[in-house]
Amino acid sequence: MSTDRAGNVRQMFGRIVPRYDLLNRLMSLGMDGRWRRAAAASARPAGARALDVGAGTGDLALELRRQGAAYVVAADFSAEMLAAARAKTAASRDTRLALALADALHLPFPDATFDCVTNAFVLRNLADIPAGLAEMARVLTPGGRLVCLDMTQPPPGLFGSLYRWYFNHLLPPLAGAISGDPAAYRYLPHSLHGFPPAPDLAAILTDLGLSDARYRLLAGGTVALHTARA
Ligand SMILES: C[S@@+](CC[C@H](N)C(=O)[O-])C[C@H]1O[C@@H](n2cnc3c(N)ncnc32)[C@H](O)[C@@H]1O
Repeated sequence: MSTDRAGNVRQMFGRIVPRYDLLNRLMSLGMDGRWRRAAAASARPAGARALDVGAGTGDLALELRRQGAAYVVAADFSAEMLAAARAKTAASRDTRLALALADALHLPFPDATFDCVTNAFVLRNLADIPAGLAEMARVLTPGGRLVCLDMTQPPPGLFGSLYRWYFNHLLPPLAGAISGDPAAYRYLPHSLHGFPPAPDLAAILTDLGLSDARYRLLAGGTVALHTARA
């Protein structure tokens, strides 16, 4: 992805903030909270120093704190997304949840800073997925856990075909109308094209030197939860 494209992605996420959470609930048929809870649990956050990359409006970061993380840094390169996260987290006055304006490809943290690093629905948007994952691995303490939650290539067969039709043709205009930003949701199916299938993503994690890379499929095989250890 060129700098231009990264800039476009950042601006696009900045524009869709007002209805972002609502659309997540609608598009996932209310399941996205459950997926984030599973992702947080996979990070084994109890007592951990946690980083959530591409934190958006902060739901996974909040879940990491709820599940006992000692502190959480929620990082995103969209100031608008972080403002929404700030509005959400301000109510709890949680001094152990910090926000950081940061690019996933250049995380502003020293090596081995966090016991777990998570990302949810972020990888598809990165200019260079292995480089982003390497950066997340860099800031993990030895033995620390990396958790990636994202959509994945739908399975073959009837369900996969129906899902593909929904995702490519029905969802973009519907979500575009609700969000008031059709271009943003035309980008959504686009972002999955060329995204590594779940086994390939696990292989990338292994190639980066992470151990125990594995994944499980959720939502009928349309969402994948990857874990690996530094
Ligand atoms: C689909 S949203 C997911 C937000 C949140 N993780 C969630 O589960 O709802 C993708 C987020 O990743 C952020 N993002 C995309 N590329 C990024 C990058 N290179 N560095 C930091 N954040 C990035 C976007 O700004 C956006 O907030």
